[in-house]
Amino acid sequence: MGEQPQPQGWYDADIERIVVSEEQIQTKIDELAKQVAVDYAQHDSVLLVGVLKGAFVFMADFARALGRQTRPVEIEFMAVSSYGARATSSGVVRILKDLDRDIADKHVIVVEDIVDSGLTLSWLLKYLESRSAASVEVVALLRKPDAIKVDVAVKYVGFDIPNEFVVGYGLDFAEHYREMPYIGVLRPSVYSRV
Ligand code: IMP
Repeated sequence: MGEQPQPQGWYDADIERIVVSEEQIQTKIDELAKQVAVDYAQHDSVLLVGVLKGAFVFMADFARALGRQTRPVEIEFMAVSSYGARATSSGVVRILKDLDRDIADKHVIVVEDIVDSGLTLSWLLKYLESRSAASVEVVALLRKPDAIKVDVAVKYVGFDIPNEFVVGYGLDFAEHYREMPYIGVLRPSVYSRV
């Protein structure tokens, strides 16, 4: 049988460079899940709190990877937005969707797509702690250099990436590209189109 043609996503033509490939992402998620499974071995269950919208893809893969490590998980989502423009992330956060239930005495892991300034996350951690979680840790697939400036403890990090705007694997530009299975940088021509 001859070589099968590789399926192409509609978005491939808009991508200048792949920053993290699909295979790298999936390998890393398995590693992170193994690490979390070891660290939480003594707990009955962990509660994953995904931050919408960006974390929905990572959440789905990470929860299933943890499941394969025979760790039962519970899943919640929150949606938050920073007041004002994202580029000047103020650290003042508005809850668009709150948790659906009580998290008191739960071992919570916040599932984040990317930590940039870290301001959203630092607010969220305080909020979850105020709701009396037994413990709160963070797993972030991506981290940008500025995140180091804010004192926010991200225990599990997938990839440290350069300070450039990336899309894919849940991350959007103007609500597009979230469905891409990899992380990439857009061609400059895409920005001049909008
Ligand atoms: P922070 O408060 O600056 O850490 O904001 C993090 C949020 O900004 C993420 O959850 C993303 O929604 C968004 N964000 C930061 N960097 C990027 C990027 O490179 N591409 C897409 N969204 C991003």
